[in-house]
Formats: sequence, structure tokens, C-alpha cells
Amino acid sequence: MAFSFLLLPTVLLIPLFCRHVTALQATALRQTAHDPGCVHLPVIHSTNVNYFSSKRAVQLQLANRSDVAYYAQLSIGTPPQPVFVQLDTGSFELWVNPDCTSITGADAAFCERTGQFDTKKSSTAISLGATKTLQYGIGSANITYFTDTITLAGSSAALQAVQFGVATASQDASSGILGIGYGKGIATNYPNFIDQLRAQNVTRVKAYTLALGSKDVEEGVIVFGGVDTSKFAGKLAKLPIIPAAQSPDGVPRFWVEMQSVSMTPPNGVSHVYNASSTPLFFDSGSTMTLLPPDLTNAIARDFGAQGPDANGFFRIDCALTTLNGTVDFAFDGVTIKVPYKELAREVASSPPVCFLGIMSSDRFTLLGDTFLRSAYAVFDLETNAIWLSQAENCGSSPAALNNIQDLAAVTGKCGVTEAADKDTSSTAVSSVAPESAEALPAPTASTVGLAATGTTSPGRTTPTAPTASTTPTTPSSSAGSCFRGQAGIVWVVGVMMLLHMLKLVL
Ligand SMILES: *[C@@H]1O[C@H](CO)[C@@H](O)[C@H](O)[C@H]1NC(C)=O
Ligand SMILES: *[C@@H]1O[C@H](CO)[C@@H](O)[C@H](O)[C@H]1NC(C)=O
Ligand SMILES: *[C@@H]1O[C@H](CO)[C@@H](O)[C@H](O)[C@H]1NC(C)=O
Ligand SMILES: *[C@@H]1O[C@H](CO)[C@@H](O)[C@H](O)[C@H]1NC(C)=O
Ligand SMILES: *[C@@H]1O[C@H](CO)[C@@H](O)[C@H](O)[C@H]1NC(C)=O
Repeated sequence: MAFSFLLLPTVLLIPLFCRHVTALQATALRQTAHDPGCVHLPVIHSTNVNYFSSKRAVQLQLANRSDVAYYAQLSIGTPPQPVFVQLDTGSFELWVNPDCTSITGADAAFCERTGQFDTKKSSTAISLGATKTLQYGIGSANITYFTDTITLAGSSAALQAVQFGVATASQDASSGILGIGYGKGIATNYPNFIDQLRAQNVTRVKAYTLALGSKDVEEGVIVFGGVDTSKFAGKLAKLPIIPAAQSPDGVPRFWVEMQSVSMTPPNGVSHVYNASSTPLFFDSGSTMTLLPPDLTNAIARDFGAQGPDANGFFRIDCALTTLNGTVDFAFDGVTIKVPYKELAREVASSPPVCFLGIMSSDRFTLLGDTFLRSAYAVFDLETNAIWLSQAENCGSSPAALNNIQDLAAVTGKCGVTEAADKDTSSTAVSSVAPESAEALPAPTASTVGLAATGTTSPGRTTPTAPTASTTPTTPSSSAGSCFRGQAGIVWVVGVMMLLHMLKLVL
């Protein structure tokens, strides 16, 4: 897991109870005020990213930054105290109370807005006494475990005696983190937040749906215990999660096998990347997607990037984001076609500056937000699978799952014209042998549909990945209003960031 932070405004979610998926066809779904089984959090996304006051300021902020992160609001204690935490599929534990004095500038301002939980003001808070140090790629927190009541904003669901960490110290952390990975018996020795949703019957299955939403639609949803059939088309492909023992790092993350990565430029002539079959994990806590160096460099060359900058980012021509091309991630039974625009990290400066949303890493191979915006994914912690489809958007119909087996019958109700699995070119691509890569055209921007500006070669063959010791820099402008209104989840579209890869020290 990695994470990224903040700034800039934006989004709110209002959690609601879900309908049932019993009859499975969404047309028959009823909405009931007191229908337990799932809690959904629609994301409302502000477009106000006009944040930079000068080109210089933008330049300063380009380094070590990313542009999206997702926050959920939890209400902890009695009476409830609202706290925002970053949603992170790449870690396992919930903790709050970052030390905002350990960071500076806008990061600190943002940090303060995420809120603090005062254990002394909660009549139900119980200290367990035990402590732990949680270590992330960048950032760490020393916590003391507590249990307390947790509710989701806007929902009457109240979880009793949930165990979580209250930080006594932290470094390079702008908010607490809600790890929504595996819990008791797998990654933790106590029931984590996801475990408790199921154990306390707020959900009927230990599963949740994450549909971040596209940049254009600017709306997404997370459904604990259910699905939203208005966010995809057709059936979901079931991808087995690779057990920790067989995974590259031995950690029980959401590892799956990816069959290939290919490029489909606007002219529709796809090519597959050599050696692009790899295990990787789903990590909503990472703004960027991290792939092996050779693969990343090959993709970056196709985008006409001039090699990674000092921070490991590949700058690309923003005109690419207007083109009808995709980078296609093939899995068994489904190919997620990520439009250039979604893949790009766009900084709303004047003029805009764009980066490839993929970075090179020897340590981690993961699908971050630059991939996840184009996917609809159900994280099934019961049968250990990711149920995946191309993200689409045709409304909102969150619904509870009574049984995890129902997922096989769930059908997305969006139009089928954009369904990735109907795309013949991506199917063809999957079968292309690696050797064919040798016949690829010379790597120039024309490969992705732009007029070539001359061939490029990465000046540095080994991009420097951001290191765990990176200290976030300080943007000079104010943080804007991140948490206007009430809320449940905040989709912070900003420009700041701490890029970090996650490494939970167990
Ligand atoms: C966390 O605890 C460890 C071990 O006690 C200590 O070395 C470290 O300095 C602490 N971290 C912070 C940020 O205080
Ligand atoms: C959850 O529901 C099951 C079956 O309906 C019941 O046996 C169990 O006691 C419930 N648990 C809680 C914490 O309410
Ligand atoms: C984009 O390309 C796909 C097929 O490659 C095509 O179906 C679609 O109509 C194109 N969209 C636009 C806006 O050109
Ligand atoms: C493809 O990858 C294989 C090993 O993974 C390598 O031997 C071969 O040279 C590569 N081909 C090209 C065109 O990069
Ligand atoms: C970005 O992070 C690197 C370390 O990873 C650091 O050397 C560099 O100064 C940072 N850049 C800025 C502009 O803060």
C-alpha cells in the first residue's frame, strides 16, 4: 500500500443503506430505510482544482505529488467524534490521530482537518494497553490499541468495541488510515474493521465493492457488503487472490495474476508488451500504479516520455489525454481498458502538466488509483477473489449481497457497448507471444497516436523510485476546503502527495 495525500477539495460521500440483491436483477430492487446488509458511500467530487496561483508554485509542487486519494469518515466513540481516514486496500489496520506537527505546510493543515479522536471524551473508549509500530513505505505510526464504538457517517450502523490504533507518534502521515485488507487470522490477530462489519451483521458477507469513478463522471461508490450494478456491464470475472505463501512478498494482500499489458492507440492497432505477465496487487492507497522497470520504461517510451524525472515520474504530453487510446490490463476473463486520460496524472496548472500514472518499482508491483478508476472491483474476503469488470456508470443501485455465491449471478446493468470483455482486439492481444514485441514500431509518441516529436530514449535506464525516506515538501498555497459539509468519504483531488509504497511491518 502506498499512500498519497491530499489537498484540495472535494468530495463528500453520504452513506446510506443498500437495497437487496436477493433477486439479483437490479430492476427488482427495493430500497428500504432499515435494510441492513450493506452500507454504501456515494462519492461527490468537486471539480474545483484551480489551486495554483503561479507557474512557479506548480513546478514546486510537481515533485513527490499525486492527485487523488480517498477518505472515509468514521465517527468514533460516545458521543461520536468524526475522523477522516484514508481508505487503503493495501493494509489491514485502522488507526487515527496522526501527529500533524511532524509534517509541515499544507500537509499539516490538511492533517488537522482530518480530525483527532480524543479518547478521554468517549465514555466507551477502552485502552487495551498494547502498542505497535505500523511502518509504511513512507510514514509510520506508533499506536496504542483501543476499542470503541464506530459508526459510519449518515448510517445508523454502529459497530461495538472495534479495535483500532490511536497514534502516540507518527511520521509523514497526514491522516489516519483505514486498512481494508485481510483481518483476523490472516493479517491481524484481532477482528479488523471489515471483520467487524460482518461479525456484527452490518453486512451479510465479508466483501465490499470499490468503484472510484472516472475523472469525467467524478462520482464513485464504495459498498460494504454489496454491489452497485449501475457501475458496470455484464458479469464479473472472478480472479483468485494469490495466497500470501505464494505471493511475491509473502504478505496477504489482494494479489492477482495479470496476464499482459497492451497498448491500444486510437488507430485501434494494439500491441502487447513483452514480459508483461506478472502478479500484482490492488492498492487503493497508492495514487500511482507501480510496474517493473522494463515494462514501465516500454510504456513510457510509447507515450513519448523523456525518461523519468528526479522523482521517478514520466512527464507526458497532455494532448494525449484527449485521445481515444487505452492501456489494457488483461486478466483471466476480463481486460480493463484504461483510457489515456484516466491513466494520466494531470496537474491543473496553466498550462496543465501531465505525467504517466505508472511508475517503475523493483519492490512493489501494484495497481493504484490510476488503474482503479477504470475498474469495478469487488473484494471478496470469503472466497478470496477479486471480482472484476470494466467500470461504467449508468446511475446508482447499491444492493446488499445475502450470499457471496450470488456474485456469480450478479449482472451489471449498464450498456454493453463499452464492455471491455467484448473487445476483440484485447482478446487478440492476450494471445500474442512475447517475441512479437520485437516487431514493434520504434518507440515514439506516434505509437500512442500523437505526431512524433522525435524518437526518445530514456536518458536514465533506471528510474529512481521514491524512497521511504522521502519527506513531503510543502505546497505554498492554502489547502482549500477539503471537508466542506458533512460527509462520509472524501475524494481529495489535490496535487499534493506523499508517494509511498506500503510495507506493513507485521
Ligand atoms: C516509535 O517507537 C519506536 C520504538 O519504540 C521508536 O524507535 C520510534 O522512534 C517511535 N517513532 C516515533 C515517530 O516516535
Ligand atoms: C448476526 O446474525 C446471526 C444470524 O442472524 C445471529 O446468530 C448473530 O447473533 C448476529 N450477531 C450479532 C452480533 O448481532
Ligand atoms: C474509441 O475507440 C473505440 C474502439 O477502439 C470506438 O468504439 C469508439 O467509438 C471510439 N470513441 C471515439 C470517441 O472515437
Ligand atoms: C522479451 O523478454 C525476454 C525475457 O523476459 C527477453 O529475453 C527478450 O529479449 C525481450 N524482448 C524484447 C523485444 O524486449
Ligand atoms: C522529492 O523527493 C526526493 C526524494 O525522494 C527529494 O530528493 C526531492 O528533493 C523531492 N523533491 C521536491 C521538490 O521536494
